[in-house]
Amino acid sequence: MAKITINDFFKKKAEGQKITMLTAYDYPFARIVDEAGIDAIIVGDSVGMVVQGLENTLPVTMDEMIYHTKIVSRAVKNAMIIGDLPFMSYQVSVEDAVRNAGRFLKEAGASAVKIEGGAEVAEHIRVMTKSDIPVMAHIGLTPQSIHRMGGYKVQGKTEESAKRLIEEAHIAEDAGAFSLILEAIPMGLAKRITEELSIPTIGIGAGPYCDGQVLVLHDVIGLFERFLPKFAKRYVNLKDEALRAIKTYKEEVEKGIFPSEEQSFK
Ligand code: KIV
Repeated sequence: MAKITINDFFKKKAEGQKITMLTAYDYPFARIVDEAGIDAIIVGDSVGMVVQGLENTLPVTMDEMIYHTKIVSRAVKNAMIIGDLPFMSYQVSVEDAVRNAGRFLKEAGASAVKIEGGAEVAEHIRVMTKSDIPVMAHIGLTPQSIHRMGGYKVQGKTEESAKRLIEEAHIAEDAGAFSLILEAIPMGLAKRITEELSIPTIGIGAGPYCDGQVLVLHDVIGLFERFLPKFAKRYVNLKDEALRAIKTYKEEVEKGIFPSEEQSFK
């Protein structure tokens, strides 16, 4: 199977096939996600919360994102790899955005980047796209705006804010984004945006009518304990499995059961 490209995203939308996306941040999990046939892996700045143990995504640096994207790239054969521009890697200037987005493609093996925002980053999207960097935009709940939004809150619930999000979606598309993440918005609004846009929408907490879905891997496999967002689904509890295995190892070492002859050299 060939590497997934933005053309496959467009084809899937045209044919009504859902696009599947998950996060990954390291080699072993990127291998598993890729082997499962997921279309795209986003190396998200959610790494700050689910891997680095931070309160939010704001402290994550560009160099950390490059590090994680590099090791994900080494593992992946087919999935499209998308690097997530972290807080303050693009807000100050369009130049910053292009330079940092370029690093994802040049140094880390990504084939696209994601940027939070719609209208306020339209120029960034335009210039990155012109520089041959495919861009995924992200509207609705944008976690880098947590302080302005006053927390992780569902967006677009009033008529006025819904209208604004529809406008933002069109602005992102017109600026050249190849795809758009819709996070934590009512499903009816996501449906309308999905129907109006020609680029695929990827939902996270935006209901079933988006062209694709994305979740944070650690929510899906039960490795993030602090909270499970209402929109996420835990398909397995790896934390419990790992805890059981490690406790058994501890017990076996303490009782002299491990290592046995089988694990020893003669
Ligand atoms: O940071 C992240 O992981 C994300 C995805 C969930 C879209 O923004």
